[in-house]
Amino acid sequence: MPERIPLARPSWTNEMRQAAMDTLDSGRWVKGPQSRAFAEEFAAYCGVEFASPCNSGSGALIAALRLLGVGPGDEVIVPSLTFIATATSVSMTGATPVFAEVEGDYWCLDVEDVRQRVTPNTKAVIGVHLFGQCYTSELIELCQEKDIALIEDAAQAHGASIEVEGKVSMSGALGTVSCFSFFPSKNVAVGGEGGMITTAHSEIGARIKSIVDHGRDGSLQSQEVGTNMRMSEVFAAIGRKQLAKLDSWLEVRRTNALRLTKTLANHPTLHAPLIRPNSKHAWHQYCIQTDTAERFIDHMEKHDIAARLIYPTPCHQHPVYSGHHQHSMKFPVTERLSKQLVSIPVHHGLAEDEMIRIIEALQQYT
Ligand SMILES: Cc1ncc(COP(=O)(O)O)c(C=O)c1O
Repeated sequence: MPERIPLARPSWTNEMRQAAMDTLDSGRWVKGPQSRAFAEEFAAYCGVEFASPCNSGSGALIAALRLLGVGPGDEVIVPSLTFIATATSVSMTGATPVFAEVEGDYWCLDVEDVRQRVTPNTKAVIGVHLFGQCYTSELIELCQEKDIALIEDAAQAHGASIEVEGKVSMSGALGTVSCFSFFPSKNVAVGGEGGMITTAHSEIGARIKSIVDHGRDGSLQSQEVGTNMRMSEVFAAIGRKQLAKLDSWLEVRRTNALRLTKTLANHPTLHAPLIRPNSKHAWHQYCIQTDTAERFIDHMEKHDIAARLIYPTPCHQHPVYSGHHQHSMKFPVTERLSKQLVSIPVHHGLAEDEMIRIIEALQQYT
């Protein structure tokens, strides 16, 4: 019996194990050199000046909203086709998430729909680089035009990039404040829960470390409301080793994605994901669009290959938003995609024989 091929397989090497052990042996378990170095290296990777590790991607989003002063009475526009934390982070601050439609072709926020939903109460937009695909640079332009902060939810997009005004920018540098997750399935992980906040803006950068550390400044006085959202030194040490591998892992993900897309050319029922022009996809997920999702998932599972509907319930339809003014609103593109997008393995841990099994299973499906 061949082994089941999972949707994600966290990388764990001797080098990472050693880094974790060395950090534990050092006795410095929090607030030490590993977190500082991870922040510096991550900021450099994204091409920004400021970064702060934190306890999760959700924590990063809540911290980002607080850095921007978002709270009760404010509205924050979010896509409904995303992981629920994008929306609930807004609710956690007391502000209202305002759901918007996504693009039919690239599945990120639809800029024209966002434009319609801007009101005098709109304090920010959270754009998601869904599955590792960057949102359109037109979203950045719209937020600049309207003078609204743009929070970049890059939880799924470590190493993605897009050309903005003729210059290639990495994820982490595409918003007023940017947020990453190191959940074990993500392109970079830390051996537990973790996240990162980045920014190029010095006035926010000056507070980015303090917001995850009780709002304290160097003198240990609290200047603003914050709490303990720090990352442990062990996780930072592991994260540094993973970050050093990211570019080589992205190459593997991109090669795998290309092979899957070539396999799906002219397929009768399965449609490969598109890549936005002038951008580099980070392939956190490879989602196939199909009207036969249930039958396709069944087929892949029979071949011991993990496959699942990625977001079967759009955020606005979750029970948590049963009292939300948009709970029964129609979002035709989002609702259609929620029933059509099936994630299959694309990760950098796939062996050649596993890739061949996936390709053959796709070829056999009609
Ligand atoms: C788009 C998106 N936003 C936010 C998060 C939250 O990250 P975490 O699970 O680290 O809290 C995730 C993680 O799954 C995500 O995919």
